[in-house]
Amino acid sequence: MRVTIFGTGYVGLVTGTCLADVGHDVVCVDIDQAKVEGLNRGVIPIYEPGLEPMVKANHAAGRLTFTTDAAAAIAHGDVIFIAVGTPPDEDGSADLKYVLAVARTIGKHLERPAVVVNKSTVPVGTADKVRAAIADELRTRGTDVTFEVASNPEFLKEGDAVNDCMRPDRIVIGSSSTMAVERLKRLYAPFNRNHERIVVMDVRSAELTKYAANAMLATKISFMNEIANIAERVGADVEMVRQGIGSDPRIGWHFIYPGAGYGGSCFPKDVQALHRTALQHGYTAQLLGAVEGVNEQQKGHLFELIQRHYDGNVAGKTFAVWGLAFKPNTDDMREASSRRLLQQLWDAGAKVRAYDPEATAEAHRIFGDRDDLTLCDSARAALADADALVVVTEWKQFRSPDFARLKQSVNDAVIFDGRNLYHPDEVESAGLAYYGIGRGR
Ligand code: UGA
Repeated sequence: MRVTIFGTGYVGLVTGTCLADVGHDVVCVDIDQAKVEGLNRGVIPIYEPGLEPMVKANHAAGRLTFTTDAAAAIAHGDVIFIAVGTPPDEDGSADLKYVLAVARTIGKHLERPAVVVNKSTVPVGTADKVRAAIADELRTRGTDVTFEVASNPEFLKEGDAVNDCMRPDRIVIGSSSTMAVERLKRLYAPFNRNHERIVVMDVRSAELTKYAANAMLATKISFMNEIANIAERVGADVEMVRQGIGSDPRIGWHFIYPGAGYGGSCFPKDVQALHRTALQHGYTAQLLGAVEGVNEQQKGHLFELIQRHYDGNVAGKTFAVWGLAFKPNTDDMREASSRRLLQQLWDAGAKVRAYDPEATAEAHRIFGDRDDLTLCDSARAALADADALVVVTEWKQFRSPDFARLKQSVNDAVIFDGRNLYHPDEVESAGLAYYGIGRGR
């Protein structure tokens, strides 16, 4: 099928590439000329394992092209996806200006019947606004082309996006039009093998499904962080508690890892946006407010542990920080817990030597050059002259350090483990002090 995708960010680029990979003819549109030129030369603007060779192969095969020419792209697609950003505006609601601008562009150029699909994470009711914007432009042109607007939220995770897209656990299609549903079922047929993954529902339920999924996952994390905070006070170890509850299939092993708080471009923004949507409809979503509140507090928790260890005197100390990205396998630092920690350390007069396998350039872009930050090119280099080690992101390569050597390099012989990567006894038996999340020490 012929597919057009507006937006070459995470969702648009990964979706377009995966659709091309199963044989569809995909045109991706972006207003950013430099980005489009780069993509046509095989320069991938994001770090995502496995994506680059796929983009290159499908581009070379002529199934995946990038353009700034919206009119030609609209003429191309039997299905036109909107996959542009929805950043939060001042009050936390999702800002629809990019989505609606694309809708207007579609209305300005549409010449033949099409299915327009919202893939961006958008509040309930957005499909109606998209439909109205397209219809308004068509009316202005005096054109009478039929079109349908469907919702098809994306559930891919950064760092594992290609896999999530190629092997989805469900494909949610929100539409009441038989034509649109049939067309999307055909589009997704290559991903719907072995068992039925397509769930068809009305548009509003599909829009809410996306927020419900992310809010549920964020709730699991904040819940575990709350249990960790209780564990710390009552002298229990949350890691034992986690193992004690995860085997219950009603609870499950996923997303019950306590830590330094959740970050990224989705959970913080989506929980806040759902909270706002509820308020706009006269309902105070108390649980969502608490999920956000616990997470805000949790992002400051590592610094509290550091303050406690140093009796509030961290001025002049140097902290080695392992991990800056909001999670492993990405260079993304949006809403990352590391950002809060670094700021708190700097405000308290401490210095930071940080290492992240992928996010160094991003960290430099965010923080620039400053005397109290050294961006190092290895985990070991970050330890040079450091007084303490703080682990913020659970990259695989941080999992099994040589604790005896760590004891030698870290002047104050202390580790603050923001992701509970280490066994406290093992660390302590090497002569280092250990602080984890919710471990009573
Ligand atoms: C999340 C969802 O997992 C995807 O399903 C969804 O499609 C995506 O948002 C989106 O809306 O686009 P992502 O933001 O890439 O994906 O990252 P996650 O792997 O979900 O991690 C989010 C944060 O939660 C990270 O900071 C991670 O460290 C934290 N986390 C995760 C925990 O603190 N504990 C856990 O047990 C799991």
